[in-house]
Parts: sequence; structure tokens; C-alpha cells
Amino acid sequence: MALLRRRLKLVVTVMMVNLFIFILMSRNSSPDKNGRNKVRIPSKPFWTKMVPSSAYWNRQQQILDLHNNPILVSNLSSTELPDWLNGTSLTSDPCQPDIRVTTKVKDYNSLPQRFKDFLLYMRCRSYPLTVDQPDICQEPPFLLLAVKSLAPHFDRRQAIRESWGRAGTIANHTVVTIFLLGNATAVDHHPDLSEMLRYESTRHKDIIQWDYRDSFFNLTVKEVLFLEWIHTRCPGARFIFKGDDDVFVNTYRILNFLNGLSESKARDLFVGDVITNAGPHRDKKVKYFIPESMYVGTYPPYAGGGGYLYSGHVAARLHNVSQHVALYPIDDVYTGMCLRKLGLAPEKNKGFRTFNIEEKYRSNPCAYKSLMLVHPRTPQEMIQIWAWLSSPDLICQ
Ligand SMILES: *[C@@H]1O[C@H](CO)[C@@H](O)[C@H](O)[C@H]1NC(C)=O
Ligand SMILES: *[C@@H]1O[C@H](CO)[C@@H](O)[C@H](O)[C@H]1NC(C)=O
Ligand SMILES: *[C@@H]1O[C@H](CO)[C@@H](O)[C@H](O)[C@H]1NC(C)=O
Ligand SMILES: *[C@@H]1O[C@H](CO)[C@@H](O)[C@H](O)[C@H]1NC(C)=O
Ligand SMILES: *[C@@H]1O[C@H](CO)[C@@H](O)[C@H](O)[C@H]1NC(C)=O
Ligand SMILES: *[C@@H]1O[C@H](CO)[C@@H](O)[C@H](O)[C@H]1NC(C)=O
Repeated sequence: MALLRRRLKLVVTVMMVNLFIFILMSRNSSPDKNGRNKVRIPSKPFWTKMVPSSAYWNRQQQILDLHNNPILVSNLSSTELPDWLNGTSLTSDPCQPDIRVTTKVKDYNSLPQRFKDFLLYMRCRSYPLTVDQPDICQEPPFLLLAVKSLAPHFDRRQAIRESWGRAGTIANHTVVTIFLLGNATAVDHHPDLSEMLRYESTRHKDIIQWDYRDSFFNLTVKEVLFLEWIHTRCPGARFIFKGDDDVFVNTYRILNFLNGLSESKARDLFVGDVITNAGPHRDKKVKYFIPESMYVGTYPPYAGGGGYLYSGHVAARLHNVSQHVALYPIDDVYTGMCLRKLGLAPEKNKGFRTFNIEEKYRSNPCAYKSLMLVHPRTPQEMIQIWAWLSSPDLICQ
């Protein structure tokens, strides 16, 4: 009886609250005598005037954003564009050195050479494929392992082939491994390795190479070329791991992790060792130094370039959006910028150890069992750790 009365009380209360809300809402939506509810058309543009950023990358991005804005783009010709926004750069051949940067970047002349090289070719995104494996994804792989390598790193590639990058079927899933290379050029005093590479590529059929200078600041070029390559050669890959050739990857653990994902989680997957609240280094001596004349602002969350894992669906979306993001000299930050533009955030996973594990655990086989990536590891260490993990005798609690 008491229960019934309590229920009745509840029902009455809920009805009263509903009535109250209804009254409130109808008061608010009743036609207003002062005409306050009429649609008001702003007499002036309601967006603020775009002011040019002082930093070159930011300014290039502003131009790209403007040209990709469907509202503005329809009327670009009739709008008076301020000089700095007039993207004539978008029409001239992007792969010719852009000499205007020499005057448009404030301190161009005093910048280290790598910045000059980057800026001159910042708009170029397509280079010829010189070695390809067009049929490598004939049977779409469950996991595509894409390793950023440099031509002279023969031993690292071989160690990867013999260990964590062993292609074929692992735990009932197809795994395909490829190595992404640019050109080790004479400009960087590399010896001519083309004959050896040709042999390696014929022997293993896992080399993808483009004809551009393989330098640190051109890793972003490698990223966009790879996204294009997936789009044309391997669009059926379910998941993609992209990483360096000096990491150990626990392929077993990765497959196991991927198997355990829900459908929706798998679709938008992007995991790695995520760095948040970072920004450009302003110390000239740091490898990652970026001058103020180049970039201002913080970095979006991004996964350290040592290695990260994402879905084929995300790869397709990155391929699309990357065309709307100006190239940035640091590749993992660039990928973070693309993800942000997609409204996605990379997810941090403790299994990715791009800053290594504690020294005392490094020679303990069981320390690697639950990890997905450890950086750095030499070719010999890769083979050793893989042997540990592949052994049926390895018992860890
Ligand atoms: C484009 O510009 C013209 C002239 O300024 C204007 O009459 C027209 O309404 C604009 N169209 C759009 C879609 O904004
Ligand atoms: C941009 O600049 C070029 C050359 O200076 C000029 O011919 C063109 O009309 C300008 N375009 C716009 C939309 O202002
Ligand atoms: C692989 O697939 C076969 C047949 O579908 C099944 O019998 C076997 O248990 C699977 N192995 C693993 C490791 O999942
Ligand atoms: C790239 O390497 C190929 C041979 O491997 C060579 O013919 C070509 O000139 C190189 N390109 C550049 C830009 O150095
Ligand atoms: C990137 O590659 C292009 C093409 O080989 C080259 O001209 C440019 O100097 C390279 N940029 C850097 C920063 O090395
Ligand atoms: C990429 O862009 C093309 C053309 O705009 C569109 O048809 C396609 O659906 C997009 N793909 C993804 C995965 O967003």
C-alpha cells in the first residue's frame, strides 16, 4: 500500500514538472510583440576579418582554408581578396621551387638550410614512384605493416623481415609488410646504393620507393605519398601500422588487441603513444626546433612517429583531409593536424613505448608480452625478442 502511494506521488510530481516545463516553453515561443523573434539578417558580415598570421605555415593554412570554404569559394572571384590571401600559389606548378618564400618568410636568410629546403618545396606533394608492389594487396590484408626506412638500412629491414614483420598468416590473419623509402641522394653524400636496392626489391618484393630526397623534414612527404599509395594499392587493408625501422613491434599482441575491438571502435581506430599539450621547440639546438616565423600556436594531440596503429577507414579519411592541410616539417605532428581537422583524437595506449621501458626490464622476455611497441631496438635485439615471444616455452604470469 505504502509502495503504491509512493509511486502515485512520483507520477504526480513528474506530471507537475512536465506541466511547468511546458508552460515555460510555450511562454518563450509565443510570438513576441516586439518582433524579437523575427529572423534577423545581419547587415554586415558576421565573421571577423581575417588577419594574416605572422607565421608562414599558419598563413598558408589560412589560404587553404579560404579556398576550401564552400561558402566563400563560390564567390571568390567577385570578392576582393587582400593580397596576402590571393592564393596564386595554388595555381602555379607546386613542384617548382617557390622562390617567393625567400621574401615572404621574415628571417628566411638566417634559417638553417633544412628550413630553406622545406619551404621551397612545401607545396609539392607528388613525386614519381620508382619501385612499387602493385599486387601486394591483391588479397586485402587484415594488417598492413608499413615501415619508414632509409635506403642504407638493409640490416634493419632484414631483421624486421625475420622477426616482427614476417609477412604471411599470423594467428589466422593475413599480414603484409612493406618498407617506405625515398631517395638517399648524393646531395646528402649517400653512396650509390641503387643496385643493392634493386636486388633487395626483386628478392623480397616489399620495397616501395619514391623519387624525392629522403630527409627528416621530408617525412611528411612520405606520409602523404603513403596515404595516396594505400588509396590506390591497398584500400582493402583493415588496419595499418606505420612506424620506424628501429622499433620492436609485438605483432602477436597487436593482432590480439585488434581482434578484441568492437565494430565501432575498430572503425575510427587511431592509437599510439599520444603526446598532448605540446608545442614547437624554440631552441635552435633541438632536432625539432621550429622558428616563430614558421609556426605559431600549440600542437594538436599527436601520436609519436615511432609507431601508431589505425584503421583503413581512418587512412581513407586522412588521405582526403591531408589535401586541405599545409605540409608541416614534422610528420607525426602533421598527422595530428589532419586528425584534428577530421574531428578525431588519437588515443593513448600504454602498450606503445616510444620512450623505451625501464632498463631493468629490457632483457626480461615477459616484459614484452603485453606491449605493442618498444623504441628503440637494434636489429639483433629485434630477433632476440621475437624469438622469446615466439617460443611455446615462454610462460608469463
Ligand atoms: C556573390 O557576389 C555577388 C556580387 O558581390 C553577390 O551579388 C552575390 O549575392 C554573391 N553570391 C553569394 C552566393 O554569396
Ligand atoms: C590574384 O593576383 C593575381 C596576380 O597578382 C591577379 O591576376 C588576380 O586577379 C588576383 N586574384 C584575386 C581573386 O584577387
Ligand atoms: C584458425 O582458424 C582455424 C579454422 O578456421 C581454427 O580451427 C583455428 O583454431 C584458428 N586458430 C587461431 C589461432 O585462431
Ligand atoms: C634517385 O635514385 C635514382 C636511382 O636510384 C636516381 O636515378 C635518381 O637520379 C635519384 N633522384 C634524385 C633526385 O637524386
Ligand atoms: C624534399 O624533397 C625534394 C625533392 O627531392 C627536395 O627538393 C627538397 O629539398 C627536400 N626537402 C628537404 C627538407 O630535404
Ligand atoms: C573522400 O572524398 C571523396 C570525394 O570528395 C568522397 O567521395 C569520399 O567518400 C571521401 N572518403 C572518405 C573516407 O571520407
